[in-house]
Amino acid sequence: MTTTSETTTPDRAWIADITMTELERNPYQAYERLRREAPLAFVPVLGSYVASTADICREIATSPDFEAVITPAGGRTFGHPAIIGVNGDIHSDLRGMVEPQLQPVEVDRWVDDLVRPIARRYIEAFEADGHADIVTQFAEPVSVRSLGDLLGLQDVSSDKLRQWFGQLSRSFTNAAMTEDGEFANPDGFVEGDVARAEIQAAVDPLIDKWIEEPAETAISHWLHDGMPPGKTRDRQYIYPTIYVYLLGAMQEPGHGIASTLVGLFSEPEQMEEVVDDPTLIPRAVSEGMRWTSPIWSATARISKVPVTIAGVDLPANTPVILSYGSANHDTGVYDAPTRYDIKRPPLPHLAFGAGNHACAGIYYANHVMRIALEELLEAIPNLERNTSTDVEFWGWGFRGPTSLPVTWEV
Ligand code: HEM
Repeated sequence: MTTTSETTTPDRAWIADITMTELERNPYQAYERLRREAPLAFVPVLGSYVASTADICREIATSPDFEAVITPAGGRTFGHPAIIGVNGDIHSDLRGMVEPQLQPVEVDRWVDDLVRPIARRYIEAFEADGHADIVTQFAEPVSVRSLGDLLGLQDVSSDKLRQWFGQLSRSFTNAAMTEDGEFANPDGFVEGDVARAEIQAAVDPLIDKWIEEPAETAISHWLHDGMPPGKTRDRQYIYPTIYVYLLGAMQEPGHGIASTLVGLFSEPEQMEEVVDDPTLIPRAVSEGMRWTSPIWSATARISKVPVTIAGVDLPANTPVILSYGSANHDTGVYDAPTRYDIKRPPLPHLAFGAGNHACAGIYYANHVMRIALEELLEAIPNLERNTSTDVEFWGWGFRGPTSLPVTWEV
């Protein structure tokens, strides 16, 4: 484990008091101070350096002196070789495996036909009720059903896909470390293990079938594309990247839809404008991604050589967690960053990461969120937040509202 005198000097002692529970409930307070006082700092509870400003996150994500590494809890959950934690030829192969289905020209061909009927189906199920929980009845189901169908998992229910991403997500972010560099809560990985076993039991027979009879599903393409005739990629080689999909790619468009709506509810005039002019939805989604970044702090890089960043000397082989959700609240870049505001200058944000490991699904994810919100706001333009409870957000690695009760006149 790496240690540093920074955390033991008196003015940095507060960093050693940061807890996982605090970060999961609300990371913004601790990170606001990190950005101000220690934008690249060793955070003991995470057992890692953390980058919290936009400049430092971008510099590290795009620097030739760093390469990707999976966090310890992430590696424990996904195994090797997950696309987010590999480099060189293996990364090129995995990236080349997932990218063809996610190219804009490809996505444009089918995304509307895939997502719109799914969004309509879920809306029809609650439209007459006058109330719904947008997270569990709409945002998450639309997100998982769209990607599930794309992957070839039509027979896995949306509820099961939602359960899997929840289990994998909690396991992946079970990041607390002891002073000895051990996992503080090893039992927290059990639910991830359970999910992985269930996933393999469901996906193995499909892989058996697609090896014999290639199909128009993403996973079938992953097995066959770019391989010599008669050969397929080994299933153990692609499973860790299947888990990356079944966690992040399943969960995050749902987080993004719900967070964007919470943001719009906080600015009723902007909500009205978006309802009246749906062409503003992409702008609303982009601000939602900045305001509450779904992948708040889940990926990392490791220094390949000794390097000095923002005045901090890092030896070779030092992992740094990139907290993009914090970078997107950097007051050096955004005025009043805690406010959701579709009128702010459309500055770039880091919600999809940066460098050669930036999100491969940006184009697809943005369309899923746009189509879902177009359908919802067209079907129910008089949507109101049920203000009898506050909206609770949860998560440090992945972040979004845990529920979003809404009402409307029927
Ligand atoms: C709103 C939804 C989403 C957000 C906010 C998001 C964000 C991110 C972020 C921050 C990363 C890490 C980037 C880095 O380390 O610099 C990432 C990686 C990745 N994302 Fe997404 N993502 C979303 C949805 C999706 C979807 C739907 C897919 C696939 C269909 C996808 C595929 C991937 C892949 C394959 C990687 C790993 C890339 C690599 O390591 O080379 N993402 N995403």
